[in-house]
Amino acid sequence: MKTEHTIHGVRAALRSAKKNSQSVAFVPTMGNLHRGHIELILEAKRRADFVVCSIFVNPTQFGANEDFATYPRTLERDGSLLADAGCDLVFIPDATEMYHDGRQQLTQVHVDGITEHLCGTSRPGHFSGVATVVTKLLNIITPDMAFFGEKDYQQLAVIRQMVQDLCLATNIIGVPTIRDTDGLALSSRNQYLTESQRAVAPHVYEALCRVRDGIQKDASQAEELCRAAHQSLEASGFVVDYLCLQSRELAAFDTQQSQAVVLVAAYLGKTRLIDNLVFDIR
Ligand code: PAJ
Repeated sequence: MKTEHTIHGVRAALRSAKKNSQSVAFVPTMGNLHRGHIELILEAKRRADFVVCSIFVNPTQFGANEDFATYPRTLERDGSLLADAGCDLVFIPDATEMYHDGRQQLTQVHVDGITEHLCGTSRPGHFSGVATVVTKLLNIITPDMAFFGEKDYQQLAVIRQMVQDLCLATNIIGVPTIRDTDGLALSSRNQYLTESQRAVAPHVYEALCRVRDGIQKDASQAEELCRAAHQSLEASGFVVDYLCLQSRELAAFDTQQSQAVVLVAAYLGKTRLIDNLVFDIR
């Protein structure tokens, strides 16, 4: 596996892959890799000849009071996990490489509508930071396909919308959420949890499953089921940011549709956990 730190270097490394007509898949990450990330690499590997991963803790998608400074950085371990998974090239830029040596970036990619609820409400500017950095990375790598986790359901929807609106030539592929054996969705932020918080964290997934099961029995009870799930999380010590039922496209929930998604964001102490579950209504 090759490692590159500059845009120039990564483009040069990709030129030979592209000259040989190899298909290129891309997996953007912020590092501190776990099985969820590795599943994206393995899926990319199954579908393309040449797999590129980026590791960049993107400052512009973190709010002022968020965890940019403390976000876990484990580059050495990440490198060996990627090599073992068969990744061909890892791009590890620093902030000066991505943002012109600290000179101002005046262009932002902002996706309207879809970013104005759920995580977009509680994390203002977050999705513009994500959309802007992902656009830059897609322009640097110009992959045939890029892989994103369904764990960050709204992020995936934002990226799909952006790629469609800007006519980017990359096929966006969603990969199902990888969970621990007790149901907790894997996340780099799980390691912030204390032992006792980790023990209650699976309640998030259990709450989503209860909403799903209840709706599959009687969709007319949807509102009541969400309220009950919200209350039960608060009772076990979470501060719930939102627990919300939506259509698969993140529009209003409608019992006439065949599928829905229930999404949650909740704090355990300072740690913000997000999760979601897509399901058939009938
Ligand atoms: P990061 O949180 O490192 O996640 C990188 C990718 O891994 C995302 O597509 C995310 O949805 C996916 N992922 C994380 N946990 C997962 C799990 N348990 N199962 C399946 N996939 C999972 O998301 C970001 O980084 C950044 O916002 C980024 C897109 C890199 C832009 O900076």
